[in-house]
Amino acid sequence: MHTILVTGGLGFIGSETVIALINNGYEPVIVDNLSNSKEAVLDRIETITGKRVPFIKLDVCDEEPLRKVFAQYKIDAVIHFAGLKAVGESVEKPLLYYQNNLMSSLTLLKVMKEFDVRNIVFSSSATVYGVPERVPLTESDPVTHATNPYGETKVMIEHILMDTQAAWKELNVALLRYFNPIGAHPSGLLGEDPNGIPNNLMPYISQVAIGKRDHLRIWGDTYPTPDGTGIRDYIHVVDLAEGHVATLKKLDKNPGLVIYNLGTGKGTSVLEMVHAFEEATGVKVPYKIYPPRAGDVAENYANCDKASEELGWKAKYNVVDACRDAFNFQKKNPDGIK
Ligand code: NAD
Ligand code: UFG
Repeated sequence: MHTILVTGGLGFIGSETVIALINNGYEPVIVDNLSNSKEAVLDRIETITGKRVPFIKLDVCDEEPLRKVFAQYKIDAVIHFAGLKAVGESVEKPLLYYQNNLMSSLTLLKVMKEFDVRNIVFSSSATVYGVPERVPLTESDPVTHATNPYGETKVMIEHILMDTQAAWKELNVALLRYFNPIGAHPSGLLGEDPNGIPNNLMPYISQVAIGKRDHLRIWGDTYPTPDGTGIRDYIHVVDLAEGHVATLKKLDKNPGLVIYNLGTGKGTSVLEMVHAFEEATGVKVPYKIYPPRAGDVAENYANCDKASEELGWKAKYNVVDACRDAFNFQKKNPDGIK
């Protein structure tokens, strides 16, 4: 495997994975419609790696331009990050989410079949487990319904990929269920760059720390957890990117369908994250307790033994490392990537 098409490759996880691909000798080609990213990310990838990665601005839902990319490059595998990902927005605009996330995946698979490209890695999410019956979650835990339209698109795309693989046996499919990706490239050049008020914990804490927001709103402290705040499995985005490289190596052995949780195996509460951030940066994070956020679960973390045994991959960084890198990115880019 050599040439890897990365859809959504200018986004938070995609751009970090492009760097990992280059560092491991692959040739990435990026397609992205810039709906949630900036073209300037390409320059930053070049600063970090010394390589100008081919980039084609297109919407993966548009078959013709996508076909041209497959005709121009001899693609060996696709990593499919392109998708909309904001849980709250998906509740308000379900059709936008079903349209974008499903159509892009269907179009991509159609064109892959046409060009006989036999490897795909899909960005799934821990959200497919819905409300967990128990933690840690393993890959064999039930996937039925997610709690919002965004999550439902992930459940549906997993089914589409499984059915396609069952009918086209030469296709290798990896479903990667990410837990909570945080952190940034250690250079501070790439990281999470949300529009408007951040929904997610890490970018919100970082913006409080640089004084852009007054205090962190902690959504609930009466959950049945040791300190009452919600527990998640936060994984450094650099570790997550490496997980994709390990997965490509696995696909090279023609495994058919594989599914992996990518997390750290360790749960961290919101209050523990605040303390980790303070330890990493020396900056105090003021917070206030608010009522729980609708749809949140008390506790969600991964059992990652399968990825460790079958991919030889494990997260190396801890939450203190991730907080340090996220804050470094925030300080260097107070108004995001320009
Ligand atoms: P991101 O928004 O930073 O990156 C997604 C990229 O896809 C963006 O650059 C966007 O412009 C592009 N895009 C969206 N729709 C497109 C389309 N139709 N055609 C072409 N480009 C398109 O998000 P991210 O955090 O890097 O997430 C990457 C993937 O991982 C997504 O599929 C997301 O659902 C999934 N995921 C993310 C998280 C998380 O917390 N960040 C957790 C689990 C799964
Ligand atoms: N939280 C706060 N205050 C905030 C933001 C978050 O207290 O301002 C708390 C939440 O209540 C939760 C924890 O911090 O307990 C993490 O919340 P995030 O919004 O950062 O992440 P979620 O676990 O809710 O969701 C994330 C992604 C989803 C994905 C899911 C599982 O946003 O897209 O992980 O992978 F589906």
